[in-house]
Amino acid sequence: MTKNILVTGGAGYIGSHTALQLLQGGYNVVVVDNLVNSSEIALHRVKQLASDFSNNLSYIKADIRDKEALDKIFSSTKFDAVIHFAGLKAVGESVEKPLLYYNNNLTGTINLLEVMSDHGCKMLVFSSSATVYGWPKEVPCTEEFPLSAANPYGRTKYFIEEICRDVQRSDGEWKIILLRYFNPVGAHPSGDIGEDPLGIPNNLMPYVQQVAVGRRPHLTVYGTDYNTKDGTGVRDYIHVVDLADGHIAALNKLFDTDLGCEVYNLGTGKGTTVLEMVTAFEKASGKKIPLVMAGRRPGDAEVVYASTEKAKRELNWKAKYGIEEMCRDQWNWASKNPYGYNSANDEE
Ligand code: NAD
Ligand code: UFG
Repeated sequence: MTKNILVTGGAGYIGSHTALQLLQGGYNVVVVDNLVNSSEIALHRVKQLASDFSNNLSYIKADIRDKEALDKIFSSTKFDAVIHFAGLKAVGESVEKPLLYYNNNLTGTINLLEVMSDHGCKMLVFSSSATVYGWPKEVPCTEEFPLSAANPYGRTKYFIEEICRDVQRSDGEWKIILLRYFNPVGAHPSGDIGEDPLGIPNNLMPYVQQVAVGRRPHLTVYGTDYNTKDGTGVRDYIHVVDLADGHIAALNKLFDTDLGCEVYNLGTGKGTTVLEMVTAFEKASGKKIPLVMAGRRPGDAEVVYASTEKAKRELNWKAKYGIEEMCRDQWNWASKNPYGYNSANDEE
């Protein structure tokens, strides 16, 4: 029997790639998204890419804080599981507008959990983040590390993880997988879907990409005095297609085994500096990325990368792609869509 999966935030960067992998894996997918940080065009592209499976995708424009809307969605389809991406994710904005973040991410998730419970759908995959490791005392980060959060966005991830653990403890019918993503980059190899942030990008690779297509003059490198091989920060970059595959592995785990609330890192286990990433992107794109060296960005950790052992062992999943493929696919998306899903005229 074909399984029905509700994907909240499925029009977004990671959600759209995951929706495509789900369709290609034979699942029925219903996306709910309010488009606060995404474009419906992404879903049209997902449909095209899914070709024979395109009819298995439907989209409902709704805010997950709207409980009535969620209730209607669950009344019309019996879902086997939910993958919950919907949330706001800009760290700086979360410091400026903490209540917006608590309202959107926490209230939205609580609503979703309540409606799921009301309808007897008790399998969930949630998008957590390596941000819950803060500035780790050592690397690689294992799932047992103490949790911390340096900003309201990070706290929403931490709180939602705790809420999920409490919900599962209170009712053993729940099965929940918390996935802690490291740094998702790259795009689908078709170049038809990718990351398209609104306004000035906060993250490294979307920024690099916009410099490469001429939308920004240079990249500011935040911090050159870290205790790393070239002084710049180290992160665990993971290809978004690998990340999407990790969700299929998590679903298989939910469907096939008894489990309570489990947490898995999704990363490659390899650390890369900012300058190494820039060099790899320059090579993939043939474009020079002008750099301006600057001080550290407040709140940034020095070195963060994942232990991937638990995901390998228990989800039977590991990342396939390296930074070369990440940069190749990011550039393919950027060069085909220099203004993302919009056109140059839409730029303010
Ligand atoms: P994204 O902004 O591209 O996708 C999130 C989607 O959720 C968007 O399409 C947005 O419109 C939607 N959304 C937000 N609030 C909503 C609401 N109240 N109701 C309905 N839809 C809503 O972000 P992404 O990079 O695809 O991230 C997906 C998830 O993964 C997020 O929860 C994010 O916090 C988490 N995450 C992302 C990263 C990263 O670096 N991209 C790292 C770790 C964790
Ligand atoms: N960096 C720059 N210049 C920029 C942007 C970033 O030098 O313009 C550097 C940062 O200082 C850091 C590295 O590039 O050393 C990566 O920065 P990102 O902002 O791309 O990623 P972070 O690891 O800081 O944070 C991201 C998300 C968080 C998430 C975390 C782990 O923003 O929300 O990955 O998943 F929690």
